[in-house]
Amino acid sequence: MSREATRPVDRVSLVEMGPRDGLQNETRILTLEQRLALISRLADSGLQRIEVGAFVSPKRVPQMADSGALFELLPRKGPTRYGALVPNSQGLQAAIAARVDEIGLFTACSDGFTRANIGISVEESLVRFAPLVAEARRLGIKVRGYLSTVIACPYDGPTRPKRVAALAERLLDLGCHEISLGDTIGVGTPGTVAPMLDAVLHEVPAGRLAVHFHDTYGQGLANLLPALERGIRTIDCSVAGLGGCPYAPGASGNVASEEVVYLLHGLGMSTGVDLDKLAATGQWVSEQLGRANGSRVGQALHARALHLRTTTAEIAQGESHGP
Ligand code: HMG
Ligand code: MG
Repeated sequence: MSREATRPVDRVSLVEMGPRDGLQNETRILTLEQRLALISRLADSGLQRIEVGAFVSPKRVPQMADSGALFELLPRKGPTRYGALVPNSQGLQAAIAARVDEIGLFTACSDGFTRANIGISVEESLVRFAPLVAEARRLGIKVRGYLSTVIACPYDGPTRPKRVAALAERLLDLGCHEISLGDTIGVGTPGTVAPMLDAVLHEVPAGRLAVHFHDTYGQGLANLLPALERGIRTIDCSVAGLGGCPYAPGASGNVASEEVVYLLHGLGMSTGVDLDKLAATGQWVSEQLGRANGSRVGQALHARALHLRTTTAEIAQGESHGP
């Protein structure tokens, strides 16, 4: 057997953010049926972790209202695990009732953002989370910890890498199985992301980390490279590059899932995702939202599919007319 054939496949796990981080910042609010169709299509494209919604105040984020009803409708047959954001005990009770597979507790490196987002300081959030993690774990629900503003905060300015490292370690110690490091406003470059990751990796192993890059300045893909080089194999992404955070003014969506899959497959890594199906879903949801497709890979594949369809129709027409 050749050495090529025995080399293990380098597998990357994608956490699809479109239905939550994606839709939470869109002006057009999708119906439950549209949200369900989006999630079903994403699962069908091979994504095995999907963040479905958020058990937050519907007054604050109306796009995420009825997340409980959405969970009731989910197709639960396949291997896909479905998660949701939880900010407090009220959210946890709703998540338990909805039988979520995983909850995401969310805090940040900066008080300015945490106060705007969930109304308390970073320290207060960690105190609040401790019993929530314990309760979720007791019930067998996995807990992901989100740490926002890892590069900079829209209210408090730049974040020191050591602060990110210390907070990531504290979330891990609370019992989170994974820490998602969020460049919430998408200002990082590999020049700032690499030292931040190096600091965090002193305290938390790569296998317990995920990266969550928003693409505001077009650096999302570039920022994945230092993460991959350092052994991180869990990436958050959003179909069609949807979204942003209502409490991070001016921030755009996560790095587009289509771009991430194209990059990883190009690097010889596996994702288990069918890129054509994913791109068709990105185009479909962009049309539902009445917005341009935010993924350049998605745009290119859509243009190619249209071209192929036109060419096939022309050939069929030529055949029906005969020689
Ligand atoms: P509050 O106003 O401080 O809470 O909100 P409260 O306890 O005073 O309650 C006020 C009202 O909210 C009450 O209702 C509660 O029942 C209700 P009222 O009596 O006025 O009718 N309430 C809730 N309703 C539903 N679900 C709940 C809940 N809790 C209280 N869980 C709260 C506190 C956290 C709820 C609020 O600030 C909130 O919902 N914030 C939204 C935060 C959010 O969703 N942000 C976006 C997601 S985070 C993100 O995008 C970043 C991330 O992607 C990573 C990155 O990019 O860096 C994760
Ligand atoms: Mg986000």
